[in-house]
Amino acid sequence: MANVAVVGSQWGDEGKGKIVDWLSSRADVVVRFQGGHNAGHTLVINGVTYKLSLLPSGVVRPGKLSVIGNGVVVDPWALLREIETLRGQGVEITPETLVVAENCSLILPLHSAVDKAREEARGVNKIGTTGRGIGPAYEDKVARRAIRLCDLADEAVLADKVEQLLFHHNALLRGLGAAELDGAELLAQLKDVAPKILPYAGVVWHRLDEAKRQGKRILFEGAQGAMLDVDHGTYPFVTSSNTVAGNAAAGSGMGPGAVGYVLGITKAYTTRVGSGPFPTELLDAVGEKIGERGREFGTVTGRKRRCGWFDAVMVRQAIKTGGITGIALTKLDVLDGFEELKVCTGYKLDGQVIQHLPAGQTAQAAVEPVYETFEGWSESTRGARSWADLPATAIKYIRRIEELIEAPVTLLSTSPERDDTILMKDPFQD
Ligand code: GDP
Ligand code: IMO
Ligand code: MG
Repeated sequence: MANVAVVGSQWGDEGKGKIVDWLSSRADVVVRFQGGHNAGHTLVINGVTYKLSLLPSGVVRPGKLSVIGNGVVVDPWALLREIETLRGQGVEITPETLVVAENCSLILPLHSAVDKAREEARGVNKIGTTGRGIGPAYEDKVARRAIRLCDLADEAVLADKVEQLLFHHNALLRGLGAAELDGAELLAQLKDVAPKILPYAGVVWHRLDEAKRQGKRILFEGAQGAMLDVDHGTYPFVTSSNTVAGNAAAGSGMGPGAVGYVLGITKAYTTRVGSGPFPTELLDAVGEKIGERGREFGTVTGRKRRCGWFDAVMVRQAIKTGGITGIALTKLDVLDGFEELKVCTGYKLDGQVIQHLPAGQTAQAAVEPVYETFEGWSESTRGARSWADLPATAIKYIRRIEELIEAPVTLLSTSPERDDTILMKDPFQD
């Protein structure tokens, strides 16, 4: 019986939250392993919408253990706010149901300030970050000056660490002619939040090892998507973590055998929020129509998402670089009523057709999509719960995608609602 990792195979917002929530009925533990509250995962259950940023998407199901792994950068204030919001919606969250890795790095107020200031300074070259401080927090982590959750329980160390952290940040601020940060104020903020967040702190690697020994099923929930991966994505227009399933092991404290089945969540078209290359982007009425029908507005920042045709070259690359076993194809219903649909099957670059997205920034911006055109379908697929309910042309579209990306469609999602999901193959039984 394999554990399952759910990851995005495009530029995020593929519908990971919906699929993790649906699959979590078959799991005992749901684990976030990277990213932070830049993620926005939406669940719709009997008409009620839940928006999650840091909490794993299994949190709404009673009896499941939710885990935030060491690979996540945690803003304690944001996490506490999210817990309160969910409680307000009737979801029970206690230190028995939620464990946060004691060795995770914290996002501090200074990180979002640095994130926003840098974006402003970059002007037209901005990355279009969520402004949540994700990049600066990961920088402090790998530079070995981060404040970690466990430090909040150790007053002597904490004061020292704040001093070291600000030694670095204030040197930069001085150089920029900006106001320096007050260590006493940050220390007071941390001392205030410590007793509120520490009850959730735990030894995640140990809890997961226990779960494994008891034969429990673990579901890993990725954030962002393959093309936002700091190594494999459209660098520098990426997030600051590895979003691929390989990071589930390092980001939770389980070995490389942690994951069996890797389920890549894949939209039936493509979207991107923020700057950066997007070969199949549609800057016309068709793109507008996809955006309207798909309600493509960011969960976290409310920004309008850029929309375009399905890019099979990019998804195939995501499948190869991320070790994706099969995909869950989502938002097929958004394509209902289009007379024709296009799928990108190659890129034209310097007069040649290539089958991968090159790594260089100039080449990524220059590639032009080569399209295959499909007949659309006029019938509604929204809410379809069986393969037999799908029009023949929709089935043809799906089958061709499987061929092009070299991976099977194991799940199909036909609306935001939890149960509007068609299962072809149970990833836990692989
Ligand atoms: P995530 O970040 O990957 O979890 O995705 P988001 O929640 O940010 O964005 C996906 C959006 O699409 C959410 O509003 C979902 O409710 C919605 N959604 C998910 N699956 C489907 C689907 O099959 N059809 C439609 N129409 N909407 C969907
Ligand atoms: P989910 O988990 C879509 C994008 C931002 C920006 C880039 C870097 O909901 O799929 P960051 O704040 O991470 O430094 O921003 O990454 N981005 C996302 N886009 N979905 C997400 O998460 C994203 N998280 C970050 O828009 O382009
Ligand atoms: Mg999202």
